[in-house]
Amino acid sequence: MWPWLLPIVVAAVAANLESDVQRPLGPGRDSVPGSGSESRPNIIFILTDDQDLHMNSLAYMPYVKKHLIDEGTFYQRHYCTIALCCPSRVSLWTGRASHNTNVTDVNPPYGGYPKFVSQGFNEAWLPIWLQDIGYNTYYTGKLFNAHSLSTYDSPFVKGFTGSDFLLDPHTYEYLNASFQRNREPPVSHEGEYSTDVLADKAFGFLEDAVAEQKPFFLTIAPNAPHSNVKFQEDWFNGSGSAHTIFTTPPIPAQRHKDLFQDAVVPRTPGFNPDEPHGVSWISDLPQQNQTNLDFNDGFYRDRLRALQAVDEIVDAVVDRLTKHDILDNTYIFYSTDNGYHIGQHRLQPGKECGFEEDINVPLIVRGPGVAKGRVSEIVTSHTDLAPTFLTLAGGEIRPDFDGVTIPVTSEQFDAAAGVRGEHVNIEYWGFALAEGQYGKAMYWNNTYKGLRLIGKTYNLYYSVWCSGEHELYDLTRDPYETHNLYTTNHSSAFTFPSSTPGERARHITLQQLLSRLDSLVMVLKTCKARSCTHPWEVLHPAGDVHDLHDALGVRYDDFYQFRQERVRYEKCEKGYILESEGPRHVKAYSHSTDEIGIRGGAQWSELV
Ligand SMILES: *[C@@H]1O[C@H](CO)[C@@H](O)[C@H](O)[C@H]1NC(C)=O
Ligand SMILES: *[C@@H]1O[C@H](CO)[C@@H](O)[C@H](O)[C@H]1NC(C)=O
Ligand SMILES: *[C@@H]1O[C@H](CO)[C@@H](O)[C@H](O)[C@H]1NC(C)=O
Ligand SMILES: *[C@@H]1O[C@H](CO)[C@@H](O)[C@H](O)[C@H]1NC(C)=O
Ligand SMILES: *[C@@H]1O[C@H](CO)[C@@H](O)[C@H](O)[C@H]1NC(C)=O
Ligand SMILES: *[C@@H]1O[C@H](CO)[C@@H](O)[C@H](O)[C@H]1NC(C)=O
Repeated sequence: MWPWLLPIVVAAVAANLESDVQRPLGPGRDSVPGSGSESRPNIIFILTDDQDLHMNSLAYMPYVKKHLIDEGTFYQRHYCTIALCCPSRVSLWTGRASHNTNVTDVNPPYGGYPKFVSQGFNEAWLPIWLQDIGYNTYYTGKLFNAHSLSTYDSPFVKGFTGSDFLLDPHTYEYLNASFQRNREPPVSHEGEYSTDVLADKAFGFLEDAVAEQKPFFLTIAPNAPHSNVKFQEDWFNGSGSAHTIFTTPPIPAQRHKDLFQDAVVPRTPGFNPDEPHGVSWISDLPQQNQTNLDFNDGFYRDRLRALQAVDEIVDAVVDRLTKHDILDNTYIFYSTDNGYHIGQHRLQPGKECGFEEDINVPLIVRGPGVAKGRVSEIVTSHTDLAPTFLTLAGGEIRPDFDGVTIPVTSEQFDAAAGVRGEHVNIEYWGFALAEGQYGKAMYWNNTYKGLRLIGKTYNLYYSVWCSGEHELYDLTRDPYETHNLYTTNHSSAFTFPSSTPGERARHITLQQLLSRLDSLVMVLKTCKARSCTHPWEVLHPAGDVHDLHDALGVRYDDFYQFRQERVRYEKCEKGYILESEGPRHVKAYSHSTDEIGIRGGAQWSELV
């Protein structure tokens, strides 16, 4: 009905790597964010659940467009680093990669709220750091999985001035939510529409926050457009199977239930393909028949409908900020925990994969100094959000952050030009779940390490699975990731197009490329702090290699192809078991042992 976004999303996958498109700024502001003055900005974060970028869900949210995309910056290369709710959220709130939180699942022993607590994060996460620098903090909605009727008070969540959480096992029941406010007992809202109950709570906190006259951070985290889910008890104690979880399409509010009658999942080239692709369990999926497709299109429409109540929250929040005359001093962030697929690669509704549909997620920011209508091409991830919020609030960046502040204002964009990395470290451990009605199953051994790499002349996804399988997709030529180059002859050529007119296209072998990608994953899989944001420094301590382009120099062939260990697993595990994850030692390149470095000025071998 509002398919205005299509061009943006098409651009997002079309690998058209131009520098940031910038339109003129709105009226400038004097207050410098983070200056510590009384004008420190407020931050409102709207965090949805399982919202896609690649099936155009944003195109059906007119208020998100009007208030956020048109008034702010849209980060079209924003990624979650692990495509599952709880691990992704813990990573987001702590600023650490999942291998450094070791909260890798939705339930104990490897994840969930109890694991968040036992890892010490209830004492060390963003809301606490914001309170430490004088912010009032508020939260309503879903926090983590396994934050439940039985775990919510052992201990209570720390760090919030005011909180009202959705609790398991009812988090995903749109018509039977349980909310738990501050230190009070949970309250059941049987028969009420969850997102509307949550909206009222959010507006209440907003009024509280304004009345306090302190800068505030408010998170509004509805469960839409997640599937509607009923759990059996043993789901939560690590005995989960497809039989202990019942997923049905999300339930829209009554007033939205008849919208978008004609909407269907976009039939992109990767949708329900004639030939299977991917690796592991994905390569065994059957093509979906018409009955299945019809059901999934209905599922898709219900997601769009369930998002309408969220869209209304966006409008109401902006309206309230305007009435209180604080809109100009408030940043509004909009994102989701992970993406979603329906039918692409023959997948039933779900997430948990490394494909773009699951990892490339919406991020939109408006606020003081933020360029209006800007579409950013910089590569950002959820691990960057905690540092970003802290920076805007005037706090200090912590040494254990695995991400870096995302440029938000035009000034910050200018400062970040050419400094930002080109990689996203993707991780996953354990299961994938087929939601919806067909092909209902839990797939194990969905344990892999992935790498998204987006440079001027390349756009790649590389993965190594616990099964020993690998994937390499060249998104420049194959934006829908349907052709796994890893399975082709590694002696064949890989061509990098010229980045400027007049420059020649460059040719190397797949083998040369793969050796670099693998070494980068070797660094990233156990990286901490700076080695996560500047992984090439680990491989090249001399500091003369900053990206894949630099690392492809022919003088490094021997180092990458023969001296470095390759990423591999000893076996598939359901969590982060170090001993099963193969070699960890990464060698550093040294110029003194550089026998091949003298090969003239030839930067690239010319094979074709
Ligand atoms: C709704 O949730 C409450 C617990 O909060 C539970 O007692 C009740 O049985 C649920 N109702 C339905 C219809 O599932
Ligand atoms: C998990 O919970 C179910 C239901 O309460 C119980 O039957 C089962 O034994 C539990 N399993 C484990 C491993 O604790
Ligand atoms: C379509 O596929 C589903 C899922 O595999 C299967 O259960 C159903 O019987 C199929 N229907 C038809 C008409 O073939
Ligand atoms: C792979 O490609 C190389 C170079 O084109 C060729 O020499 C070799 O025979 C090929 N190997 C196979 C198994 O096709
Ligand atoms: C999963 O991996 C384990 C260990 O690597 C193996 O024993 C098991 O057979 C695999 N399961 C499936 C379903 O492939
Ligand atoms: C992660 O947590 C699991 C479960 O407690 C534990 O077995 C594992 O050793 C931890 N991994 C690391 C690397 O600490």
